[in-house]
Amino acid sequence: MDLNGKVVAITGAASGIGEACAHAFAAVGAKVAVVDIDEVGAVRVASAVSGAAVPCDLGDPAAISDMVAQIEADLGPVEVLFNNAGIGSGAGLLTSSLDEWQRQWDVNLMSHVHAIRAVLPAMLERGEGYLLHTASMAGVLSSHGNLPYAVSKHAVVGLAEWLAFTYAHLGIRVSLLAPLAVRTPMLGDAAEGEWASQAGGPIKEPTEVAQQVLDAIVAERFLVLTDPIAQTWMERKTADPDRWLLGMNRLQQRLEGAEDAGLPQQ
Ligand SMILES: NC(=O)c1ccc[n+]([C@@H]2O[C@H](COP(=O)([O-])OP(=O)(O)OC[C@H]3O[C@@H](n4cnc5c(N)ncnc54)[C@H](O)[C@@H]3O)[C@@H](O)[C@H]2O)c1
Repeated sequence: MDLNGKVVAITGAASGIGEACAHAFAAVGAKVAVVDIDEVGAVRVASAVSGAAVPCDLGDPAAISDMVAQIEADLGPVEVLFNNAGIGSGAGLLTSSLDEWQRQWDVNLMSHVHAIRAVLPAMLERGEGYLLHTASMAGVLSSHGNLPYAVSKHAVVGLAEWLAFTYAHLGIRVSLLAPLAVRTPMLGDAAEGEWASQAGGPIKEPTEVAQQVLDAIVAERFLVLTDPIAQTWMERKTADPDRWLLGMNRLQQRLEGAEDAGLPQQ
């Protein structure tokens, strides 16, 4: 798809990957709605890309339908929806509260569902629309620690695949961004720890990732990986799941023994 002149809503666009995508998409002529719970950040990015700031807590379904209505009023119907915002806590099974599970489920997965339900009927009527999702390699492979995050990101992968094959013949395109480590506030200090050197892959800058997303939209390609090593790791997992789990457990034990395990909040 050519983004020139298109109305693009990007969630989590006040920081990191979303912010870099707001700049990259605006540079090719998109009209960008900068959606974020961080109102000050949303206004800052929106003014930098001559877009619209749309403050929204994506954990609240009513706020999501208000967000879509505001974008339609400010810029016009959403033609590209980029569900990118995400949160994590680093917690495992016995260390995560049920509230953490619910919040990550709501923000990481259900916000995609609510926003798509608000924009898809009009996209289907027009016979054209683009849905992008940021999952993570935590959703394709998994992630040490970080259980609610890994599980909710797996669900994002399932959602995006389902949308892609259900609506492809009706003009709806879908892409799934599954990054390894990216230098953003979410990665934080984990960039320096044992996890990053063993499992995070080569750390990318948000601007590189934004260019990868842009290239995928132009090519209408589903899977967006941030480094070729991700493909190798995916192939190892599917080729021999038991061997893959053994390797993951070895790393789990190494992280438990490391002075600075550096598990990310992602
Ligand atoms: N940075 C990484 O290493 C990495 C790796 C894999 C996947 N990801 C995914 O990339 C996406 C973007 O993350 P990032 O690294 O740019 O992080 P980031 O923290 O820089 O940006 C996330 C943005 O989401 C916003 N946000 C959080 N909760 C929200 C809510 N309830 N409502 C609205 N906005 C909310 C934050 O205010 C922030 O601006 C996330 O889905 C994350 O899971 C990141």
